[in-house]
Amino acid sequence: MTGTEGLPMTVHGRGLPDRVRIHEVGPRDGLQNEKSVVPTEIKAEFIRRLAASGLTTVEATSFVHPKWVPQLADAEKLFPMVSSLAGVRLPVLVPNDRGLDRALGLGAREVAVFASATESFAKANLNRTVDEALAMFEPVVTRAVEHGLRVRGYLSMCFGDPWEGPVPLAQVVRVCRRLVDMGCDELSLGDTIGVATPGHVAALLTELGGAGVPVDRLAVHFHDTYGQALANTLAALQHGVGVVDSSAGGLGGCPYAKSATGNLATEDLVWMLHGLGIETGVDLGRLTATSVWMAEQLGRPSPSRTVRALSHKE
Ligand code: HMG
Ligand code: MG
Repeated sequence: MTGTEGLPMTVHGRGLPDRVRIHEVGPRDGLQNEKSVVPTEIKAEFIRRLAASGLTTVEATSFVHPKWVPQLADAEKLFPMVSSLAGVRLPVLVPNDRGLDRALGLGAREVAVFASATESFAKANLNRTVDEALAMFEPVVTRAVEHGLRVRGYLSMCFGDPWEGPVPLAQVVRVCRRLVDMGCDELSLGDTIGVATPGHVAALLTELGGAGVPVDRLAVHFHDTYGQALANTLAALQHGVGVVDSSAGGLGGCPYAKSATGNLATEDLVWMLHGLGIETGVDLGRLTATSVWMAEQLGRPSPSRTVRALSHKE
């Protein structure tokens, strides 16, 4: 057992991974919902600081239609400002061929398509049915794989949907299988509106295992609307998941989903993981300083409990 100022005591948990890879989504999921446009130089500095704090995967931006997500309309300008950062993977979102062309044109090495388990969100987010969206992604994934890119498949509304309510497990498993079969290397299970609870997470992971989706291809993506994101993460880790999405300072939300509030804060996640003796490679002090700096840029305090606790101590 250890513990010093600014660090959690470490008490190893049972049946948990030794290491977790954090997929940082702050610059993309975190900022996409911000009303006032964040200057490109600030976004680039945010990404540099996140990488310097030890995060090895930082989702940089989206190559979507600029009218749909105006905050990320500067993707062409931003990506080259950070693409030569050493030791960090910089995935970008691409919904279609046009998005992949833009990403390939700038030398992106990792892309993500983003599907929905529900018809309502597929329509709101992609202007497509679930199956039309999958048909749109299929050639994108094939071409990305041919170019040697890593491809992540996001799946939104895995637990509940603001228009449709609870989402049946079988509906989620069907789309997951399609994403794996089309060649996605990794699947990120999204609780877009943050309504999941740990038993529901365990049930979905069990169902996916039964459908032959390997747990080492899975990541979890929790939003913290009802304060369940850490409990849900622990349930996923106990089930063998080793990749967790989070957003520095707890920034985030989806412009096309009512009630999608902030993502699980990376600092809260790191506090729990380090407390469990799980390595992340992240320097919590540097990360917290980055979120305090970003909160100053956005003009409001970070909602992360860990950021607040650690920054009040300073
Ligand atoms: P659409 O209106 O159906 O587009 O939108 P279209 O295919 O009919 O094309 C219309 C025009 O858009 C054409 O131009 C295209 O070239 C252009 P025109 O010929 O009329 O001049 N266009 C593009 N321009 C630039 N880049 C592109 C692009 N594609 C078409 N990539 C579309 C369909 C998919 C484009 C649109 O719905 C879209 O951009 N959606 C993105 C929405 C989004 O980014 N949402 C947030 C990310 S998802 C999320 O946050 C959830 C997640 O965090 C996980 C979780 O929490 O659950 C991942
Ligand atoms: Mg999200």
